[in-house]
Amino acid sequence: MICMTGIRVNRSALSAAALLLWLGVAPAQDPYSEAELKKLDPAAGEQAWQQNCAFCHTAQQGGPDMSGPNLYRLFKRKVGSKDGFAYSEALAGDGRDWSPVLFAQYIADPSATIPGNVMPAVNVSADQVAALTAYVMRISGSVDWDAADAPAATGGLDADLRANEPEFWKLYTENTVKFTIPRDNGETYSFVAYFNDDGTITGNNRGMKGIWRMRDKRTFCYALERLGVHPYEWMHCFRPRAPKNLEFGSVAGSFAPVKGKDDFQIEYGFIEGRPHPLEGDAHPDYWTFLFSTTSRYEIKVDDKTEIVDAWFNPDKTITSAQGVTGTWYTRGEDGKQTEMCYSLVDVPGVDGKLSECFALVVMFNPRVGARWPSRFDEGNTYWAETVAGREPLGR
Ligand code: HEC
Repeated sequence: MICMTGIRVNRSALSAAALLLWLGVAPAQDPYSEAELKKLDPAAGEQAWQQNCAFCHTAQQGGPDMSGPNLYRLFKRKVGSKDGFAYSEALAGDGRDWSPVLFAQYIADPSATIPGNVMPAVNVSADQVAALTAYVMRISGSVDWDAADAPAATGGLDADLRANEPEFWKLYTENTVKFTIPRDNGETYSFVAYFNDDGTITGNNRGMKGIWRMRDKRTFCYALERLGVHPYEWMHCFRPRAPKNLEFGSVAGSFAPVKGKDDFQIEYGFIEGRPHPLEGDAHPDYWTFLFSTTSRYEIKVDDKTEIVDAWFNPDKTITSAQGVTGTWYTRGEDGKQTEMCYSLVDVPGVDGKLSECFALVVMFNPRVGARWPSRFDEGNTYWAETVAGREPLGR
């Protein structure tokens, strides 16, 4: 695991409001009321989360415990009460309900707020604490502030980008961005992403979701999440300028998404145009192909890997060599099927189902040997591979 000791809160950066809060004095306008928190910029909160928390915690429903507990519905829980996580006595015995204020105090100084707790101090700057609090309230499903999860580009700064930086705009919205991530085993994993003019990011990594927006006049930020490979999600902000001497098809640059790990570099580059269509039906051969091959899943369940050789059948059932079963369906608009959803049940070690939906266009170019990482909605990550043929049932 990543060693976090030695990193301290930067006290000198405490803003007046955070300082009052830290001292336990509520300022006149309570910055931790829901009404105030709701106004804060999710991108700032997300950045703080990615840089300081995401490698020890997940927050979505069913997400795994890592070094820290899963934080799903944190603000509806008591301190130290997630089933199955081995808390310190300090947290387990605390007994208070998590509130935004308690959370902010805990982040500013874990050991002063709950003496004896074992979470290392994190260096969230004081002016980010409130935004982080609001962000965690959102992603942990503790509040229902916005029904839609991706704030699409809404005009304003986002729309100005088209006029102010036309080359950058064209580069990103008309071409394909290719990312290459280093893997533990010395190999790399590449996927492509399409930055769309509505503020969303889509691509050929099955579970991936993303958004981009302008954080302020000079800063373009995007966030990708639900990738099936480390670091699973990241956010990257930079000045929106088209790179000089851009060459399509080669590496344009690299960045380190994990704070404190500068040697972990993700490379990016551009491919001209969008070689994979983003709308419309799957490849005409997709269904015949799917119904005659095996989708081999390697699903992470706690520390183990469960292999499931799944067969998608024309009658919308899923069967498998291992007794896992499931169902699938497609959905779309205007009579076009654009998305496929499925769920698997009886995966060993998993309570309930594992499910996901993905854009059918991802399957535009199906082939035996294709291998991709992704993540179920319930949080389990997996690698899947298309294997030729099908073993007979009940082997
Ligand atoms: C190095 C790993 C690590 C990092 C980084 C980390 N945490 Fe933790 N976190 C833990 C551990 C371990 C615990 C349990 C502590 C205990 O039992 O005393 C914990 C506990 C918590 C709890 C209490 C959960 C509960 O169920 O009561 C919250 C809330 C929390 N962390 C939020 C955060 C946030 C927000 C960040 C980022 C600013 C963060 N953590 C960064 C490891 C980490």
